Amino acid sequence: MNDRLEHPTEEGLSDLIRWKTDAWQDPHMVSWYSGRMVVSESTNSLKNALEVGAIRRFASGRDVVDIGVGTGRAALPLVADGYRVTGIDSSQAMLDETRRLAAGAPIALKVGDLAALPCEDNAFDCAVALNVLVHFPNWRESLLEWKRVVRAGGRMVFDIHSLDHVHAAYGSDESRWPAALERTQTKGDFTHYMSRVSVDELVEFANGAGLTIVAAEPYGAFLGGGNVNWLSYAELDATHRWKRLLSWFARDQALFDLGNFLEDAIVRHLTPRVTGRMFVVLDNRPDREANARFAASVAARDAAIDRRDFAALLPWLPHTREQYAARIESLLKPLRNRRFFFGLFKTLMTRMPGFDLRGVVADEVLEQYIAWLEHEQIDERATRIARGWAEGAPFRIKDGIDVTIGAEYDLVKALLQNHFGIFDGGRQ
Ligand SMILES: C[S@@+](CC[C@H](N)C(=O)[O-])C[C@H]1O[C@@H](n2cnc3c(N)ncnc32)[C@H](O)[C@@H]1O
Repeated sequence: MNDRLEHPTEEGLSDLIRWKTDAWQDPHMVSWYSGRMVVSESTNSLKNALEVGAIRRFASGRDVVDIGVGTGRAALPLVADGYRVTGIDSSQAMLDETRRLAAGAPIALKVGDLAALPCEDNAFDCAVALNVLVHFPNWRESLLEWKRVVRAGGRMVFDIHSLDHVHAAYGSDESRWPAALERTQTKGDFTHYMSRVSVDELVEFANGAGLTIVAAEPYGAFLGGGNVNWLSYAELDATHRWKRLLSWFARDQALFDLGNFLEDAIVRHLTPRVTGRMFVVLDNRPDREANARFAASVAARDAAIDRRDFAALLPWLPHTREQYAARIESLLKPLRNRRFFFGLFKTLMTRMPGFDLRGVVADEVLEQYIAWLEHEQIDERATRIARGWAEGAPFRIKDGIDVTIGAEYDLVKALLQNHFGIFDGGRQ
């Protein structure tokens, strides 16, 4: 299955590209998408804030083309910022929705294909594409076409999935990948397909195309859904408990603020190894030395992460250790925030045991987390023992009914009370 993707046939790839393009012609799809992006649900509002924030930070010049403009999520804020914006999309229904949402604001909109833009050469200072290349395997050809319409010295900004991230999480042997990840590679599974790029591939492409890499900025460390963080997938995303916690992002401003701070003040300064998704910024000028420096800087940051000490990351971060400590202390006051951060802490300790957060996260919080971790481990072991006690027992099923159901709770309680003295009714 993966061979087909590694060496996809022309025909298979064009089927995928056609499917991805046609999916957005349906007006129902357009209204669903438009609503989804404005109604705050689960982590959508954080995703939107991070993505639009990155586009605004990286956009440059005066004339901007938004490729796959959709409902104008990137284009309309850029219009508000004073750029002269042209939106291109293969779906007239999407363009109609952008025109409606623009409410009279000036924006040029044209039907066109991202791999054959209806635009003159050198027409723009900047090309942006939000949530578009993630769907397409032909990212190299698309970028060369975008480069054609961007002036010398101009810029391209887009998001795409990170191959270095999935390799860090599960290695390059795809037979060891969990099914949820494996299906994103399968070009036959059009709905779940995700286009992934490594830093090495970016450097090679940029050198060949005469482009300079300005950034490959990770984001979406815990957005869930189509933005799975594969490093924490088993511990977090694959569990219902975590999904329930993420659903609070839409309702709880304090939780949103914590997520936003972690993304803005830490995650985006790290490397494409840490998240499933990244923003890539390419300037339209050749500079192989700058690209080599960029690759070296990614390698140095990866090495700093491997030192398992927050202090080793400080040279790349925007705040001092004291500033992080003060902000994190105030953000961890609400109990739900503390529980959310515990999920991240637990994953970090599983992936990188001993990661040193002292001086950044208060000692009293770390002590509480270590106690919670121990309790969880004991609880899991006790539950495993209790669940196994009646396995295969002849009396277990009587008249078609499992008579052991419920006994588990009492057994776990007895085990925890008698051997560890810590049972508290599960309300820890
Ligand atoms: C996930 S939406 C993203 C829309 C918008 N950029 C955003 O972030 O909200 C993908 C968009 O790409 C457009 N699209 C799909 N295939 C395309 C193609 N071959 N050429 C141009 N646009 C395409 C779709 O119509 C849709 O509007």
